Amino acid sequence: MDLEIVELGPDQRHTVVELCGRALDLPEDAAEAAAIVDALWARAATHRPVAAWGAHREGRLVGALIASLAPGDGVARGHVDLVAVAPEQRRRGVGRALLAAAEAWLAGLGAAEVLLAGNPPHYAWPGIDVRYTPAICAASALGYTQDRTAWNMTADLSYDGSPALRPTEEAEARLAGRGVTVRRAGPEDLPALAEFARGAFGGAWDAELAGSVGHEGAGCHLAERDGEVLGFAAYGSSRPSWFGPMGTAPAAEGSGIGGVLLRRCLRDQRAAGVSAAQIGWVGPVPFYSGSAGARIERVFFLYRRTLGA
Ligand SMILES: CC(C)(COP(=O)(O)OP(=O)(O)OC[C@H]1O[C@@H](n2cnc3c(N)ncnc32)[C@H](O)[C@@H]1OP(=O)(O)O)[C@@H](O)C(=O)NCCC(=O)NCCS
Repeated sequence: MDLEIVELGPDQRHTVVELCGRALDLPEDAAEAAAIVDALWARAATHRPVAAWGAHREGRLVGALIASLAPGDGVARGHVDLVAVAPEQRRRGVGRALLAAAEAWLAGLGAAEVLLAGNPPHYAWPGIDVRYTPAICAASALGYTQDRTAWNMTADLSYDGSPALRPTEEAEARLAGRGVTVRRAGPEDLPALAEFARGAFGGAWDAELAGSVGHEGAGCHLAERDGEVLGFAAYGSSRPSWFGPMGTAPAAEGSGIGGVLLRRCLRDQRAAGVSAAQIGWVGPVPFYSGSAGARIERVFFLYRRTLGA
């Protein structure tokens, strides 16, 4: 029976989540299928062009793809944020057909290239987890070239003595002696936090901060002195088990602020039932290793393809 590719609307969310729950082969991803689909589709669409396609056979959804556009400076870039095909439907051209639909849409929006890579701030993976080996094979077969590697670190929250759960009180007392207060951020802190992130790092983390502060399963802690933000750490904006982003003012680096902010967030995540936090798209490996005993675990290949080439 023929394969039919159609653009999906938000009313199809439930079916897409159900499919992803079956088709994402890694249990940690399948368990967060609903959060992933919502972050990539509904929430991302408030910030940039996003579209989803479904592949149907005999009236059933057998594959889905979500793509988005990153306007960029001058040249627009397309991103494939998610692609999943039902296990029993693999190697029958479903992935290929979904990708072709997304590429045509992105080309129509002026994208010069397409990346199989996360499109921050709304991303579920930095790229393709190497353990999704069929996807790695498909990316090469479909004309994509690997250009970068990224990795996550895992902080073990499964037992009381974990270095990730080391108490922060002593370090906080030392910081207090130097006039630095550490506390949970509230909605009223968002403008100052966003400005701090832009000023200190040049990055726009507004969406991640807004998605963390005051949302269920998410949160943010900050350090300040005399009302001036010196650092922050956030979690849960993209996925409940994922930590980040975080940042300490360059002038305050080395003072222990980062480790305190990190472990405050990890403590929250554990209280919310997370047993292994993913520190996404790292970053300073020695810092996370030293402050939380985190280890490099998930590794991702990032791909790109020039359209029309
Ligand atoms: C990756 C995935 C979407 C591919 O979907 P698919 O419908 O099986 O892909 P296609 O049938 O269109 O395959 C296209 C080409 O990719 C290559 N390919 C796909 N799966 C492969 C595999 N297991 N081994 C080797 N090559 C493979 C082949 O060259 C294939 O063409 P061919 O069958 O004519 O030789 C599917 O395996 C999947 O859903 N995996 C789990 C979710 C996932 O990994 N998503 C991406 C990570 S975020």
